Amino acid sequence: MFAFVWLMVLAYAQLVGTENLNTTGYPSRVRSIFLLAGQSNMSGRGGVMNGTWDGVVPLECQPKPSKILRLSAGLSWMEAQEPLHRDIDVNATCGIGPGMVFANSLLNLNPRIGVIGLVPCAVGSRMGTKISEWGRGTYLYNQLLRRAAAAAALQAGGRFRIRALLWYQGESDTNNPQDASLYKMRLERFFTNLRADLKLPELPIIQVALASGQGPYIDAVRQAQFGVHLRNVKIIDAKGLPMEPDNLHLSSPAQVQLGDIFAHAFAATG
Ligand SMILES: *[C@@H]1O[C@H](CO)[C@@H](O)[C@H](O)[C@H]1NC(C)=O
Ligand SMILES: *[C@@H]1O[C@H](CO)[C@@H](O)[C@H](O)[C@H]1NC(C)=O
Ligand SMILES: *[C@@H]1O[C@H](CO)[C@@H](O)[C@H](O)[C@H]1NC(C)=O
Ligand SMILES: *[C@@H]1O[C@H](CO)[C@@H](O)[C@H](O)[C@H]1NC(C)=O
Repeated sequence: MFAFVWLMVLAYAQLVGTENLNTTGYPSRVRSIFLLAGQSNMSGRGGVMNGTWDGVVPLECQPKPSKILRLSAGLSWMEAQEPLHRDIDVNATCGIGPGMVFANSLLNLNPRIGVIGLVPCAVGSRMGTKISEWGRGTYLYNQLLRRAAAAAALQAGGRFRIRALLWYQGESDTNNPQDASLYKMRLERFFTNLRADLKLPELPIIQVALASGQGPYIDAVRQAQFGVHLRNVKIIDAKGLPMEPDNLHLSSPAQVQLGDIFAHAFAATG
């Protein structure tokens, strides 16, 4: 069944390949693919105020055209630049997230990682996205799978080029006790299904523990996050990182810290 889904996804990627998978300029140079998913803080709101991004790109998030690419909404590799999620999280104003810092920092830590291909898939929209919206068969899940497969299909080495999932989500599950208490089960199921459908059962996953959330059940969700004991799932903590004046989103300096923590956590996976 999983193999079938994977084949379908690959077949689809190949089908659209001649049109959309145009790698001109970057022919299969990507060595390490990273999936970025979750909600607004992964998508990035650093520097966004009153619905406008200030356009300030911290030094740590600068583009590196020959080293850091991103998979566009049209499924082709292009030079990665902030805001990384601008054509994915289309109903929100995107700003600085952790992705560019992660890539820059990882290149510093491990220059032999090769060309990095970032695959932005996070959607925050206005209300954020709950874990139930990421379950197998949902729009967001399918999009993540489709984009992962397309990225892998562009590379020699295929899905084995997918090095990790960076995951930052759960804020929208802090609003009511039902969501909070079901969170651990849903999160584990999401991780397990994704690995199965990608046929990468050991895929490293690095998830972020919430610092706060939209509702009162933050501690319950944090406990659920820390309670995940699947192999190769690491957790890093957003507690204490500075927020935007809206008190809702991580600021650009916070995202710079977070991206760096992500990179160190990944580098330590060996
Ligand atoms: C890819 O894009 C380049 C430049 O945009 C174009 O010249 C080329 O024909 C395209 N290749 C395919 C296979 O569509
Ligand atoms: C954002 O909106 C608030 C309230 O309308 C206003 O007080 C503030 O000056 C605005 N900030 C910017 C940077 O535009
Ligand atoms: C954006 O909004 C439209 C209209 O409400 C909706 O159909 C679409 O799914 C939304 N897309 C994302 C990525 O949030
Ligand atoms: C962004 O992340 C911070 C830290 O985890 C959290 O307090 C906040 O609620 C998040 N914002 C949204 C809109 O999810």
